[in-house]
Amino acid sequence: MGISRREFLCRVGHAGGFGAAFFTMQGLGLMAPAEAPPRLDTAPGTGAGVKVAILGAGIAGLVAAYEMKALGYGCTVLEARTRPGGRNWTVRGGDRITLTDGSAQTCNWGRGQYQNFGPARLPSAHTAMLGYCRKLGVAMEVEINTNRSTRLENDAANGGRPLEQRQVVNDARGHVSELLAKCIRRGALDAELSAEDRDRMLSFLRTYGPLDKLYAYTGSERSGYAELPGAGDQAGVLRKPIGMDTLLDENFWGAILFEEAFDMQATMFQPVGGMDRIPFAFAQALGGTIEYGAEVKEIRKTAGGVRVVYAQQGAEKPLEADYCLCSLPLVMLRKVANDFSPQYQKIIAGCTYGNAYKIGWESRRFWEQDLNIYGGLEYVKNGPTPVWLPSGGLFAERGVLVSGYGFETADSFARLSLEEKFAASRQTVERLHPGYGKELENPVIVPWNRVPFNEGSWIASYGPGQDAYSDGVDPGYEQLLQPDGRIYFVGEHVSHIRAWQEGAARSALRAVQMIGERERARRA
Ligand code: PHE
Repeated sequence: MGISRREFLCRVGHAGGFGAAFFTMQGLGLMAPAEAPPRLDTAPGTGAGVKVAILGAGIAGLVAAYEMKALGYGCTVLEARTRPGGRNWTVRGGDRITLTDGSAQTCNWGRGQYQNFGPARLPSAHTAMLGYCRKLGVAMEVEINTNRSTRLENDAANGGRPLEQRQVVNDARGHVSELLAKCIRRGALDAELSAEDRDRMLSFLRTYGPLDKLYAYTGSERSGYAELPGAGDQAGVLRKPIGMDTLLDENFWGAILFEEAFDMQATMFQPVGGMDRIPFAFAQALGGTIEYGAEVKEIRKTAGGVRVVYAQQGAEKPLEADYCLCSLPLVMLRKVANDFSPQYQKIIAGCTYGNAYKIGWESRRFWEQDLNIYGGLEYVKNGPTPVWLPSGGLFAERGVLVSGYGFETADSFARLSLEEKFAASRQTVERLHPGYGKELENPVIVPWNRVPFNEGSWIASYGPGQDAYSDGVDPGYEQLLQPDGRIYFVGEHVSHIRAWQEGAARSALRAVQMIGERERARRA
């Protein structure tokens, strides 16, 4: 019996964390890959004499302010927090993490240790973001999103012993190649392949598998060694292949496909020293354009524009503007008194956001020093997953890893106490690397839906019972693409690159372009 597409996505999600689920969406054509970044063709000076209120100094707000300032607009960015970046947030030793439930944590990591508790990777395809990094002089390094030395584990498979990705990837390929070669040699594919292509296919499979002379997969150095080759008589001993029955476990195939998602393919990047280097670079370029500690309370339509009321240091202040670019997550916008048209209010009231969390730990880099693993993602079947090893500071004594980056609601994780969450997270590392769980210190958990002014990780649906990641036209999304009078909505939720900074940046560029055209038309 077939399973529904949604059910299929759920299963893959359980197997490989939400990352794998996203991969599958893309495979099914539910997410559009990125095109070249839009070039703004509004002439410099377009914005002369035009005032813009930009709500939120996350990536969308910062990109909008940066571009609009260059076009001559008078920009004011209102930011509720005391820092730029929005959901782009890097936590370092000494930082205090206060959540909306009233709980607080102090991060006790050593000097130079950090974790990106918001976005943490930038694919090569995200050319708008990478372009700004280049322009703003943000030092970049490779983010190791995939690593054949990382491990995959399932208590119920292979006796709970973890496998290396190199084994899973290459043994799976070997077995599939052997089976396909068998079919071809038995004539089962004669209707599909010409005689010539049958031969060509067999010789391809020999190399691809790799298969032996009898078209059997008997193992390969690609999967690694039981004993490594060395000097003298140490010829090395190859590993025995893992059986296909074990590899068919969805935890294994789900995890190895993750790196094939378009957005997850090498080369991926991160700023040296933390993702927040990007918003801070924007903020520096913007000078005094950003008002911090400025919480938006009201968004009103006026005869010729917009009036925003915000609270700052206990005082309510008005901001009059010709246009408003509103980047607040829709869950935050719910709390703002507004004059939006009913169709927008309906989306704002009915949408839902994901509740991703990450747990970070400081540790000796045992994965590098003892196990020869440098960066990458590791997956377990039960408990918080994946483990995300640091890409920065390779070969340093200590580092910060993530153990658990998923949705809080998955596997009833949300119902655990804080101590139980940390214990489960430590257990994940213990499953993957027996004996090392005890080395983890100073855990920090960031559940995005309880971070003030986030209250969610990214758009999940534009209305009750809907799914922002299913195919077809989404009326809520289509609505948000249109301005409500002089108010333009921007952010990842106003893009097809949802849950990525690139979506936020491109939505901002699009709105800037639209306003520029409107101004040009007005003046013509
Ligand atoms: N951009 C986020 C991340 O890289 C969320 C996401 C995960 C989006 C997987 C798409 C696919 O973790």
